[in-house]
Amino acid sequence: MKKTIAILEGDGIGPEIMREAIKVLKAVEKKYEHTFKLIYAPFGASAYFTEGSPFPEKTKQVCDEADVIIKGPVGLAVEQMNDIPQEHRPELGAILPLRKRYDTFANFRPVRLPAGLKSFSPLKEEVIGDGIDILMIRELVGGIYFGDKVEGTSTEMKFARDDCIYTEKDVRRVAIVAFEEARKRNAKLTNVHKANVLATGRFWLEIVEAVAKDYPDIPYQSVLVDNAAFQLVVNPTQFNGVMLFENMQGDILTDQAGGIIGSLGLMPSACIGPEKSYVEPAHGSAPDIAGKNMANPYSMIGSVALLFEKCLTLPEEATDIWSSIFQIFEEGFMTRDLMGPWHTKEKLINTSDFGDRVVQKIEETHQGT
Ligand code: IPM
Ligand code: MN
Repeated sequence: MKKTIAILEGDGIGPEIMREAIKVLKAVEKKYEHTFKLIYAPFGASAYFTEGSPFPEKTKQVCDEADVIIKGPVGLAVEQMNDIPQEHRPELGAILPLRKRYDTFANFRPVRLPAGLKSFSPLKEEVIGDGIDILMIRELVGGIYFGDKVEGTSTEMKFARDDCIYTEKDVRRVAIVAFEEARKRNAKLTNVHKANVLATGRFWLEIVEAVAKDYPDIPYQSVLVDNAAFQLVVNPTQFNGVMLFENMQGDILTDQAGGIIGSLGLMPSACIGPEKSYVEPAHGSAPDIAGKNMANPYSMIGSVALLFEKCLTLPEEATDIWSSIFQIFEEGFMTRDLMGPWHTKEKLINTSDFGDRVVQKIEETHQGT
């Protein structure tokens, strides 16, 4: 396969975890005889300082011309962020516009903790049981993040307002993606909502339940978001399968899932649009540890695995990366973020060791094994 890939390294730990992800991408390219043309482009807070925009025109062009995009985390330390006007900060000035530009409505965030890696989680071993395997699917281009944002004064009172809007099409298309995914995995689907308070919550529930009728073979349940947050901690494995969220609720509960499995460094993601898709870690740029070769590159390497799985439909390549990563963990190696006082320091590896080990595993195993 021949593809042009835009690489947006981002800020903070972005460039160093991207370096490891690219090593892995190149190992897969060689082994499976693909040809990838990589084009690097500035994106994020540092792009604002060097180019005057967190999502410069030339980056938009590179992304428009690319088949897929690999994006690193963005954002700098608070003091530097304070020097950037709100609309040019990477959240409102780069990430949301990127999602809107390519209408990447379905965000896949796999939450995987095999039983062998129980010790990464802050939860008790018995709670993890046979392991966590939830595919969280978050609607990514609608809801309150994309509605009108108003700050103003009326009758001497200051106020702020964010509009939350969902259309039937918005809900239906992501629900279909979630049910299709549940069918592929032969898994149940849990729909998360806030229908007891919000109009958009009732609407979300109604549309998803209408779509559910087209999938009578998929076990389906719905759960209020506050209860889902509670249940995820006390009994996460009951949700093994697919979970579906609207935008903001998915943002919050996917971070909670990172906490449950032990680190946001274990949270890769893929953002799928009708024509173009991109992948990114679900976490921020960790400026405090940037440049120290300490960050866990799993989320970035896993995002490359998701690129193969969800964007390029090359499942064998994806499985090769996933199994390499999990073998490294099962051999006992871990990065600093995963280390609890109960772990031994002997098997602590850094960012570049991790990438090297993944590449080595990919090279060692034969295709189709
Ligand atoms: C995420 C992030 C973004 C979001 C921010 C950085 C805009 O938290 O991808 O989860 O809220 O979607
Ligand atoms: Mn988030």
